[in-house]
Amino acid sequence: MSRVAFVTGASGAIGSAVVTDLVAREFIVVRVSRSLPNHSDAQGASFTCDVTDPAAIADTIDEVVRVYGHLDVAVLCAGAAAPGRASSLTSSSLQDALSVNLMGVVNTCSALARIFREQRSGSLIHIGTLRAFQFSPNRCAYSTAKAAARAYVMSLGGELQSLGVDTTIVNPGFVDTPFYGSAARRPWTMTQDDTDFTRAPLLSPEALAEVIGTFAELPCSASVNEVNIGRLWAP
Ligand SMILES: NC(=O)c1ccc[n+]([C@@H]2O[C@H](COP(=O)([O-])OP(=O)(O)OC[C@H]3O[C@@H](n4cnc5c(N)ncnc54)[C@H](OP(=O)(O)O)[C@@H]3O)[C@@H](O)[C@H]2O)c1
Repeated sequence: MSRVAFVTGASGAIGSAVVTDLVAREFIVVRVSRSLPNHSDAQGASFTCDVTDPAAIADTIDEVVRVYGHLDVAVLCAGAAAPGRASSLTSSSLQDALSVNLMGVVNTCSALARIFREQRSGSLIHIGTLRAFQFSPNRCAYSTAKAAARAYVMSLGGELQSLGVDTTIVNPGFVDTPFYGSAARRPWTMTQDDTDFTRAPLLSPEALAEVIGTFAELPCSASVNEVNIGRLWAP
């Protein structure tokens, strides 16, 4: 029986690297984002879906199970970087950050948990961030939302583990993607305004995807609860 993986944020830099890695591991891969078309192909399928819409993500996950019969792994990569300092935080900027980075995760996990509970199996891999628990000078709303998502996924994981469902939180530092803006805003070109960053090599999306793919293949008895990868700046 083919293994089936579900990837949100699959049009993004990390999500598309995860898709490539899982396809190489011979998973059927279902890709989801707002900009992807509804489409089936040799690798699996893609669906247009906004994770902030609870009914839309639940319907999409139900459709995946209807078509493929089961779901083995879900990798949650959908997210948005929300710039801004704590001193300039507004309720609308916080709401925007919470909408995708927290409620998008809650909506997706709720639908997945229903399926994984019924199956009594499944692996849920949430892409968090080191910014969920490290000081992040210009990402207050993002860090707040990611910290809340981390707490939520941990709580859910605790509830699901006795059913044979794995939950893994992967917290990368900087990854070499345009997530935080153009190349001019990448760590090695950041100025005093941001913080005093090192010039350490960045983690590539492909290297991160390989780690995630390894977790996707681990047996339940060897599941990893949480891992931190790379770094944000010098200690
Ligand atoms: N890059 C980094 O340095 C870094 C570090 C640590 C953690 N992360 C985390 O890694 C994840 C992916 O980052 P990335 O660098 O690959 O960013 P990215 O290239 O901007 O990808 C973000 C993805 O999320 C999707 N997305 C955004 N809002 C969505 C919504 N409402 N519904 C459905 N999909 C939505 C986007 O697709 P559409 O626009 O088509 O919907 C895109 O596929 C994020 O969760 C981020 O927090 C990134």
